[in-house]
Amino acid sequence: MEVRKAVLPVAGFGTRFLPATKSSSKEMLPLVDKPLIHYAVEDAINAGINQIIFITGRGKRAIEDYFDISFELEYHLKMQGKDELLKQMREISEMADFVYVRQKEPKGLGHAVLRAKDVVGDEPFAVILADDVIENSKSGTKQLLDVFERYHCSVIGLEQVNPDEVSSYGIVSGVEIEKGVYKLDNFVEKPKKEEAPSNLAIIGRYIFTPSIFRELEKTQAGAKGEIQLTDAIASLSKKEVIYGKLLDGKRFDCGNKLGFLKATVEFALHDKNLKSDFEKYLKEVVKC
Ligand code: G1P
Repeated sequence: MEVRKAVLPVAGFGTRFLPATKSSSKEMLPLVDKPLIHYAVEDAINAGINQIIFITGRGKRAIEDYFDISFELEYHLKMQGKDELLKQMREISEMADFVYVRQKEPKGLGHAVLRAKDVVGDEPFAVILADDVIENSKSGTKQLLDVFERYHCSVIGLEQVNPDEVSSYGIVSGVEIEKGVYKLDNFVEKPKKEEAPSNLAIIGRYIFTPSIFRELEKTQAGAKGEIQLTDAIASLSKKEVIYGKLLDGKRFDCGNKLGFLKATVEFALHDKNLKSDFEKYLKEVVKC
């Protein structure tokens, strides 16, 4: 069955970026000139997905406005003859069909995904976490879809992380069945280094069969007192096979300041209009 819908949880507080996120959304922080959420939506669209379901919360209006038509801005650009910019702005609102569902309380990623149950219905769907930005010619979601199309089971994006970092991720283990594709058998959310089953970390890209909703409905609060998506995946794995796919490309963890800064530098260096001046500037700064 075709994957047509992607769920993007965006209700978090973004506490690691306070005070910048006190009155605006973490997902609107820009990498050069596009907000993080734009990259996440592109990741879905480049996988052929055409409905984006945002799980929002209070204070997230900027995301809705971003993907809507901005009448005043478009009028202004038209009056100024800035046709190319005008076209770009209109294209953002036409990228996909956007749906918004509120998560009234921040009870965890699993709780957020469960809010999409009625909109998703009885079909497979993607989940994309905007914090994880993946730079690759094939989008992270498309890489998972290619595996889903072969096995028709849930597939999770993976990356090998430094053993000192396992406590920041959902960690899995399993058997490699083809290059970079694993049949998974163990799932632990944010384990201590000594308790981690491996160093294979879950990265914010998932394809799920709709059965995940049944497991989410039964999932109790786990790590950090939140309803964890990883715990629901663990119980689903007792009924259905779950696959993991090592994601190709460079992944930036934009959920923390250092990762966000690294992404900013690299995206600027890959921007044809900024590259040469920015590179020159960086060399000057680093010399001091
Ligand atoms: C979430 C998931 C975790 C996953 C991570 C990927 O954690 O709960 O399993 O490894 O995203 O970025 P968070 O980063 O929201 O704490």
